[in-house]
Amino acid sequence: MASTANVLALILLLLPPITLAAGDLHGFRATLTRIHQLSPGKHSEAVRRDRHRLALLSYATATAAGKATNSSVNVQAQLENGAGAYNMNLSVGTPPIDFPVIVDTGSDLIWTQCAPCTRCFPRPTPAPVLQPARSSTFSKLPCNSSFCQSLPTSSRPRTCSNATGCAYNYTYGSGYTAGYLATETLTVGDGTFPKVAFGCSTENGVYNSSGIVGLGRGVLSLMSQLTVGRFSYCLRSDMAASGASPILFGSLAKLTDGNVQSTPLLKNPFLLRSSHYYVNLTGITVGSTELPVTGSTFGFTQTGLGGGTIVDSGTTLTYLAKDGYAMVKQAFTSQMANVTTAASGAPYDLDLCFKAKGGEVVRVPRLELRFAGGAKYDVPVQNYFAGVETDSRGRVTVACLLVLPTTDDLPISIIGNLMQMDMHVLYDLDGGMFSFAHTDCAKL
Ligand SMILES: *[C@@H]1O[C@H](CO)[C@@H](O)[C@H](O)[C@H]1NC(C)=O
Ligand SMILES: *[C@@H]1O[C@H](CO)[C@@H](O)[C@H](O)[C@H]1NC(C)=O
Ligand SMILES: *[C@@H]1O[C@H](CO)[C@@H](O)[C@H](O)[C@H]1NC(C)=O
Ligand SMILES: *[C@@H]1O[C@H](CO)[C@@H](O)[C@H](O)[C@H]1NC(C)=O
Ligand SMILES: *[C@@H]1O[C@H](CO)[C@@H](O)[C@H](O)[C@H]1NC(C)=O
Ligand SMILES: *[C@@H]1O[C@H](CO)[C@@H](O)[C@H](O)[C@H]1NC(C)=O
Ligand SMILES: *[C@@H]1O[C@H](CO)[C@@H](O)[C@H](O)[C@H]1NC(C)=O
Ligand SMILES: *[C@@H]1O[C@H](CO)[C@@H](O)[C@H](O)[C@H]1NC(C)=O
Repeated sequence: MASTANVLALILLLLPPITLAAGDLHGFRATLTRIHQLSPGKHSEAVRRDRHRLALLSYATATAAGKATNSSVNVQAQLENGAGAYNMNLSVGTPPIDFPVIVDTGSDLIWTQCAPCTRCFPRPTPAPVLQPARSSTFSKLPCNSSFCQSLPTSSRPRTCSNATGCAYNYTYGSGYTAGYLATETLTVGDGTFPKVAFGCSTENGVYNSSGIVGLGRGVLSLMSQLTVGRFSYCLRSDMAASGASPILFGSLAKLTDGNVQSTPLLKNPFLLRSSHYYVNLTGITVGSTELPVTGSTFGFTQTGLGGGTIVDSGTTLTYLAKDGYAMVKQAFTSQMANVTTAASGAPYDLDLCFKAKGGEVVRVPRLELRFAGGAKYDVPVQNYFAGVETDSRGRVTVACLLVLPTTDDLPISIIGNLMQMDMHVLYDLDGGMFSFAHTDCAKL
C-alpha cells in the first residue's frame, strides 16, 4: 500500500505547475543586471549609445503617431546597444530555455530568437534559441487573434495566413527583427505564466541580444498581458558589489519607505498609443535658484513628436528639452563660476564639464526636480554629476553634468536610469501613479 507521502507526491506530479492566473495580484520578483558598466572613461560610450536610443525612441514614437518616414537610427548602433541598459533572465517553453533579455519600459513586444533561424545573433555564447517543435506549450497565434490585430500596422505584413502565422517585421530605422507571434509559458524570476503572447523571431537584423521584454503600456507588453497592475525596480549604484538590482511585480511592488513621493502617470494626448510612461515635470531647482520652468518647457506639444517627459529604463543619461536644458546649464554655470570649466564635446561627449586639481573638492549645487501633485525629487549628487576622468592615483580630474539637451527633432525629455539610481521607483498602472523613494536597493 502506498504511503501518504507517495500519494501526495503523485497528486503533486499530476497537478500542472503552479501558475498565476491573469487578474490576480500575486507578486513575483526577478533581478536586473546592467549590461554596460559606467566608470570614468566610459561616459562617451554611454552618450553614443543614448544617441541611438533616442533615435530609436523617436522612431518608435513617430510610428505610434503614424508619421514615421525617416529616421537616423543605424544598424551598427543597434548592434552595440540593444534597446536598453539592463538584462533580466526569461525562461520560455516546456521544458524551459533561459534567455538573457533586455528589460525595456519604452517598448511593448516581448521577443526571443526562434529556430529555424535564418539570421540570429550568436551572442551570448552559446546562443539560446527556442525550438518550438520541442516545447509542449508552444502555440502559433492565428491571424484573427486580438494580439495579432494589435501589432502596429507598419509591422504587419499585407497578408496573413494560417500557414505563415501572424508574421511581424518590426523595423527600427534600418534595423529590424522579424518572425511570428505565438503563445508560450514564460517564467520571470519566481513567477510562471501560461499562454503569454510573444514574438518568435527567426530573422534578427537589429539587436546584439537574444531578446527584449517590453514593459511599456501597449497591449503586447508583459505588464498588459499579466495584468499584475504594477511593477517597481531599484537600480543599485554600487554595481561592482554584486550587481543585481531587484525588479518586483504585482503585490511585491510597493514602496514601504517613509518618504514616498508620487505623481500621476500621464497619457500623451497627441500620441494615445504611445508605450511610454509620461510624468508631468513642473519645476527644477538648482542650488537655491528656482528655474523659470513653465507649462510649455517640458509639456506636450502638438508639433514634432509630442514632447512631454518620460521615465525610461533604457536611456542612461537624462535629456531635457532644449529650453529647459538651457536654464539648467545656465544655473550650474553661474553657481560654479569659480571652478574652471573643461571643454565640452570630445573626449567625454558631455556638455558641461569642470576641471578639478587632483583631490580638490568641487562644490556642486543641489538639484531638485518637482512633479505635478507636489512630488519632489532631491537628486543624489552622483546621479547627476560624475567624475569622467581620473589621474594615475584615481583622483577625479574632470567632472561633468550627466544631463544633456535633446535634439531638435526630439523635443521629448527623458529621465534616464542614472538619475534613478538608489531609488525604488514604482510604476502603478492600476492606480495611474509613478512613485519613488530613496532606498538601499540591497535591502529590498
Ligand atoms: C533622413 O534623415 C537624414 C538625417 O536627418 C537626412 O540626411 C535624409 O536626407 C533624410 N531622408 C529623407 C528621405 O528625408
Ligand atoms: C555585442 O555585445 C558584446 C558583449 O557585450 C560586445 O563585445 C560586442 O562588441 C557587441 N557588438 C557586436 C556587434 O557583437
Ligand atoms: C541569469 O542566470 C544566470 C545563470 O543562472 C546567472 O548567472 C545570471 O546572473 C542571471 N542574470 C540575471 C540578470 O539575473
Ligand atoms: C478566428 O477565426 C475562426 C474561424 O475562422 C473563429 O472560429 C475564431 O473564433 C476566431 N477567433 C477570434 C479571436 O476572432
Ligand atoms: C486558422 O486557424 C484558426 C485557429 O487555429 C482556425 O480557427 C481557423 O479555422 C483557421 N483558418 C483556416 C482558413 O484554416
Ligand atoms: C524585414 O524588413 C527588413 C527591412 O525593411 C528587410 O530587409 C527584411 O528582409 C524583412 N524581413 C522579412 C522576413 O520580411
Ligand atoms: C566656490 O565658491 C563657493 C562659495 O560661493 C565655495 O564654497 C567653494 O568652495 C568655491 N569652490 C572653489 C573650487 O573655489
Ligand atoms: C502639469 O502640471 C501643471 C501644474 O500642476 C498643470 O498646470 C498642467 O496642466 C499639467 N499638465 C498636464 C499635461 O497634466
